[in-house]
Amino acid sequence: MKFPPGILDEIRARLPVSEVVGKRVRLAKAGREWKGLSPFNAERSPSFFVNDQKGFFHDFSSGKHGDIFAFVMETEGVAFPEAVEKLAGLAGVTLPKASREAEEQERKARSLHEVMALAAAFFESQLESKAGLKARAYCEGRGLGGEIRKRFGLGYAAPDKHALRDHLAGKGVAVEAMIETGLLVHGDDVPVPFDRFRDRLMFPICDVRGRVIAFGGRALAADVPAKYLNSPETTLFHKGAVLYNHHNARKPAHDKGTVIAVEGYVDVIAMAMAGFPHAVAPLGTALTPEQLTLLWRMADEPILCFDGDKAGRRAAFRAIDVALPLLEPGKSVRFALLPEGQDPDDLARSGGGQAIARVLDGASPMVEILWTREVEAGPLDTPERKAMLEKRLRALLAGIRDEDLRKHYRAEMEARLRQLSPRSGGYGQQSGPQQGGYGQGGRGQGFAAGRGGARGRDPRRQGGFSGEPVRASESLSRSALFSKTPTVSPREALILAALVAHPDLLASQAEALLELDLAHPDTNRLRQALVDLDADRAAGGADVSRETLELRGIGPLLARVEAAVRPGDRWCLDSGADPVEVRESLRQATTLHHKARTLHKELGMAEMAFAQDESEASLAWIRDLRLQLSAIDGMEAEIERGGRDDDLTSRP
Ligand code: UTP
Ligand code: MN
Repeated sequence: MKFPPGILDEIRARLPVSEVVGKRVRLAKAGREWKGLSPFNAERSPSFFVNDQKGFFHDFSSGKHGDIFAFVMETEGVAFPEAVEKLAGLAGVTLPKASREAEEQERKARSLHEVMALAAAFFESQLESKAGLKARAYCEGRGLGGEIRKRFGLGYAAPDKHALRDHLAGKGVAVEAMIETGLLVHGDDVPVPFDRFRDRLMFPICDVRGRVIAFGGRALAADVPAKYLNSPETTLFHKGAVLYNHHNARKPAHDKGTVIAVEGYVDVIAMAMAGFPHAVAPLGTALTPEQLTLLWRMADEPILCFDGDKAGRRAAFRAIDVALPLLEPGKSVRFALLPEGQDPDDLARSGGGQAIARVLDGASPMVEILWTREVEAGPLDTPERKAMLEKRLRALLAGIRDEDLRKHYRAEMEARLRQLSPRSGGYGQQSGPQQGGYGQGGRGQGFAAGRGGARGRDPRRQGGFSGEPVRASESLSRSALFSKTPTVSPREALILAALVAHPDLLASQAEALLELDLAHPDTNRLRQALVDLDADRAAGGADVSRETLELRGIGPLLARVEAAVRPGDRWCLDSGADPVEVRESLRQATTLHHKARTLHKELGMAEMAFAQDESEASLAWIRDLRLQLSAIDGMEAEIERGGRDDDLTSRP
């Protein structure tokens, strides 16, 4: 049982302790307190005190101590929820509605998961049935045998327009639920909703707990307009925040200490068959920051493995821009580029696990690939062009949020730039070693070749790092290890960062924002800055925007807060995200935040009570609160709980 936010405070506010206690204990006024004979021990002189201002009773005879809920639990032997219900009745506070709503929501989410599971099972059975003959043949042709089909839950959606709809309807699933899960195509111009996936090989996409939340469907014929069709964004599925095969890859990634991101579903499966079960893929889009964060939860240096074609190379270059701002000491990405014209699926088939391993071993570090991209962008045969390169690099490196890392990148790039100077062999030689070294354009082994060629002037071999001594003590003292401040709660971070990204929402939320009970100094400062800005805006002054915040010196703080947002929620930080959805997310986050804060205060009291009396009742109270807290966590645990699991809800 969960209680709506603030309700416990509400009950407390309406019921003085003396009133609740007074029903059992005859109380007499004693100064600002009340006193009476202990209900817990037979005694002659009163040692039982009640303080209405503080909202506590204290019994010196037994050491028992607590608020009205503790008193009822203690004296009536009931559990916490019952005590709350009882006192709510007494206080005239109506409980059930909001909790019923929350339960309703939970049930709905659960039932959507069930719908997806039913659909997945149906597709699977279709693939292995007579209807799936053609699709099965297609699979066999691509080396996807029965066992692997089963392991990845592959299925088949028949060509019939209503096959899935009718099947699900027969299982009692409402059409609305089929629409909400994206299984049916609907709309004003669609008189009868029909199956989205038809005549396709189906790849179920799971959340990190392995629950099916979406599908990717591959056309079997070559002439179908979309080779792959994915589920649309739904309540369950935000494609930018999901990795295909995440749930299966997590454990092997941990065991192996690395994780591989490839481009396609079939690539993931081919990798698994070749002995690389720790492979995942984005869902048909470029890698997003959320997905990168998920990769970093699995390993410090994920390997991004791109197809050996122009598109793959572009994707790698784009990934640089996504990763750069997010890099941290020890956290980076490596890039593996496949041989010309091949994807992991092709390579696994032609060269097996060994060929894959070779490509992965040859992966280039971030710094290398960034340098390559910039150096290859154009000729460097004049001082102006070289200066332009330097300028671009400077601007790029400024995007690295981590200060220490930025310094190291600058030092490394400066050393590399020095190697391009005339004294050390001359820039300007289009075909000189520095240009030739970085595998130009269409060369298949682009990155790997680049590395080999560059070896001769690798700045690290020439003391590139010695030029700028790093004062270890200074950087250490700034590092997280030495910091005593707890990390920002992801939920607090989400609320504030989303308002920065959507300043229009701020106007209507300013009041609520002021009332938020924030735990961390960073979020408190950011809130202050936002409220100030909003007031300025109302007075016709500055805009509420990231730029103004940066001008006011809040930039680094904002970056810290943004970094604390859960990957699954990052889409809210995109200023292009649908404001209605963002508002809904904010509403949910705020509700959960209030709940968690109230429960935490409650927990503080329960723990205090337990410290005093070590009673079963206090313990039960604590246990109940913990349960409620973890239920709140569960509600938004779409995303795995990683190292940053220091939410409010687990901090006393
Ligand atoms: P590719 O075109 O590289 O496909 O797209 P692939 O994985 O090699 O597919 P096969 O081997 O021909 O079956 C890579 C990924 O991009 C997404 C899919 O997620 C695919 O796995 N994609 C591709 C789409 O979403 N839609 C498309 O039309 C094509
Ligand atoms: Mn392929």
